[in-house]
Amino acid sequence: MRRRILILGSGGREAALAWKFHREQCQVYIAPGNGGTDRWATCVPIALEGCATSKDYFYAIANFALQFHIDLIIIGPEKLLEMGIVDSLVAYGLRVFGPTQAAAAIECSKADGKDIAGVRGIQTAGYRVFTNPGEAFAYVEVAQMPVVIKTEDPRSGERTRIVRTVSEATAALRFFMLQGNAGSSVIIEQVIEDGEELSAHAVADGDGKSAVHFPVAQDHSQLIPGGPFTGGVGAIVPVPWVGREHRAAIHQTTVETLAELHERGRPFRGLLYPQFKGPYLLEYNARFGDPETQAYMRLLESSLYNLTFASAEGDLASTDEVRWRPGYAASIAAVSGGYGRHGGKPQYRFPIMGIEEAEQVPSVIVFPAGVRRGERGELLTDGNRVLHVTAIGKTLEQALARAYEGVSCIHFTNMDFSRTIGQSALMLQSAQERQHIRNNPL
Ligand code: GLY
Repeated sequence: MRRRILILGSGGREAALAWKFHREQCQVYIAPGNGGTDRWATCVPIALEGCATSKDYFYAIANFALQFHIDLIIIGPEKLLEMGIVDSLVAYGLRVFGPTQAAAAIECSKADGKDIAGVRGIQTAGYRVFTNPGEAFAYVEVAQMPVVIKTEDPRSGERTRIVRTVSEATAALRFFMLQGNAGSSVIIEQVIEDGEELSAHAVADGDGKSAVHFPVAQDHSQLIPGGPFTGGVGAIVPVPWVGREHRAAIHQTTVETLAELHERGRPFRGLLYPQFKGPYLLEYNARFGDPETQAYMRLLESSLYNLTFASAEGDLASTDEVRWRPGYAASIAAVSGGYGRHGGKPQYRFPIMGIEEAEQVPSVIVFPAGVRRGERGELLTDGNRVLHVTAIGKTLEQALARAYEGVSCIHFTNMDFSRTIGQSALMLQSAQERQHIRNNPL
C-alpha cells in the first residue's frame, strides 16, 4: 500500500517536500498547500486561519489524518510547533515529524535558544533580556546601534525589528512592550553585519545523541546588499568553501544542543538547525528551513519518508544510510516587487507566466509558494516569495547558471529577484583555490 503523508503549510518549503515525497511514490496530502502544490499533492482545505481556535485546527487535522489513514504528518511552519501541534496530534495517536512544544521553544523563545547556546559554550551575539520596559528604554539610550529587538510574545504578528537609531529602538520597544503586546518581554541583541550566513540541518530522534547531519547550506536573507532582511530569497547546497573541519564544528554545535535539550528533559525529535553568521550562532530553528529545503530536496537521493518516519518513531538507527547526489543545488526566489527593498510595498494578484518554459532548462524545477488560482484556473501571485526556481549541477556555477536561466523565463508584473545568490560562495571558493595553488607550487 502507498504510504500516506500529510504536510502542513503553504509555502515553497512545503511544495519541495511534497515534490520529494511524490517522487518516492507516497500518496501526498497538503493542508492547505497553495495554488500550485496540486502538481504533487492533494490540497486539503484546512488552515489555521479558517479555524476559531488552535484546538479546533488540531482537531480538524487529526480528524482528517485518522479518516485518511495518514502514516506520517510533517509540520512546516514554526508557528504550529509553538502552539503545541505535535503534542496534540501525538495525543490523538498520530505519527508526527517535528518537536514537541517544549523542545521547539529553542526556536520560538529566542532567550531560550541563547541560554542553551551559552551553557554549551556556543558563541552568539551579545544580548540582554528585558521584562521591564523602563530598563529596556534606558538600555537602548546607551546601546551601540544597530541592534535587533525580538519579542518573546507568540501573539505578535511582527516578531523582530532591526533598528539603527535610538528613536527607531524606542518605537520598536513601544510596539513590542507597551502597545501591541503589552506585558511582553524582549531580547535586545547586537547585530552581526559581517560574515557569511550558514545553516546545517540535522534530523534527530530524541535520544540526545543521534543526528543525521545534512550538508551545510547557505540562505541569502537580503535581496540586495544593505536591503532589509527577508524570509530568505535564495539558497545553495553545499557551500563549496566549507571544509571538513568547519563542517565538523558546525555539526558539533547541533550535537551539543541536542544533548543539552535532552538533559533539560526536552528531548528533540524532528529537524533542528543552527543558523550562523560568520562564527556566531544567530539562532536555532526547529523545522525545515525555507528556502534551504527547496535546494536540499533536489540533492537528497535516499528516502525522505524513511528518514522522517524513523525520527518520528524515535529510532534513527533503523533508517538506511542517507545519501546525497553529488554536485550542487541552487534555489532562487522570484518575489513580488518591493519585497526586500526599503520602503517597498509589494502588490499581488498578477498572472504568472513561464513556469513550463523555465522547466525546459536542464534540471530546473519550479516550486510554487505565494501563488493562488484565479477564476479561470490561471496562476496569480499571492505573496512576497512567489516561486522558487531550483536547479542542480556538477558545479555550483552550473547549478546557479541553470537556476538563473530558469528565472529569466518567468514573468509577472513587478517581478524581482536577487542577482547575487551564490556569488560570495563562488568568490570564497576561488580565493581558497588560489591559496591552495600558492601553498602547493609545482
Ligand atoms: N532560512 C530561514 C528560515 O527558514 O527561517
